[in-house]
Amino acid sequence: MIPLPFIDLHSHLIPAVDDGARNAFDARDGLAVLASDGVRRVVATPHVQASILADPAARARRMTELDMGWRLLRNVRDELPEDAPVLERGIELLLDAPEPDLSDPRLRLAGGSAVLVEFPFLRIPMYAERQLAGLIEAGWTPVVAHVERYAELGRSLAQIARWREMGAVLQVNAGSLLGRYGARPRRRARHLLASGWTSLLASDYHARGGPPALREARGLLLRQTRAAEEGGGEDGGTGVRGATRLLMGENPRRLLEGRRVLPVPPLARRAAWRRWLGGGD
Ligand SMILES: [Fe+2]
Repeated sequence: MIPLPFIDLHSHLIPAVDDGARNAFDARDGLAVLASDGVRRVVATPHVQASILADPAARARRMTELDMGWRLLRNVRDELPEDAPVLERGIELLLDAPEPDLSDPRLRLAGGSAVLVEFPFLRIPMYAERQLAGLIEAGWTPVVAHVERYAELGRSLAQIARWREMGAVLQVNAGSLLGRYGARPRRRARHLLASGWTSLLASDYHARGGPPALREARGLLLRQTRAAEEGGGEDGGTGVRGATRLLMGENPRRLLEGRRVLPVPPLARRAAWRRWLGGGD
């Protein structure tokens, strides 16, 4: 078995600041559900727009909102049993303006050098590479959220490859592997795993009911591992176990500690995985 706990770098648990937890009850239930899903450390990453960070008054207002919500979330966590996830703070930054000032540690994952980013309207804009390069030049490690959900991904694989070469990290939502966002993101999530391009899986949990999908995604990967092992020979599943551990534990931990992620073995090297990745279920 892949050992618990998971470390989850992407969630919307702070009450009433975005489309995640609506109130303290949602946040409490969300933390309890994450705990039962095997998460022991979670970063709360509410949506923040780069264009708001560029406006001093709007930025101050947004940070005050987030501070209040964060304090409420901490209080909710304090009322829960010891095994509730340890909370860290971050944001999911919408790159709708150039050169965001990220010097405030509240804007980075656990205050380290990694920052979770997304592009507007789930489209990859012309300026995407320039934006990511700017962040890297400024000393940050951009973690591109749910990269499998972008409409143009199929046409932009060369671009995505360049992002990785530049030092960006690609994150896939666990729910995409399970088909929660439809057939296309599921296919892409599997292909990203097949290629070894994704460095981590995260829940992107919005705390409005339903499971966060990390445990289920792990179960799916383990079932495929067993099937691969039963196939024997080159299909041995040992590498898949290692990959799962990297995706859900080691690499998120390394990012929080300011270290480089480790390469994840491409699953498509194994024939049984190639069949699964090529299939539609
Ligand atoms: Fe998100």
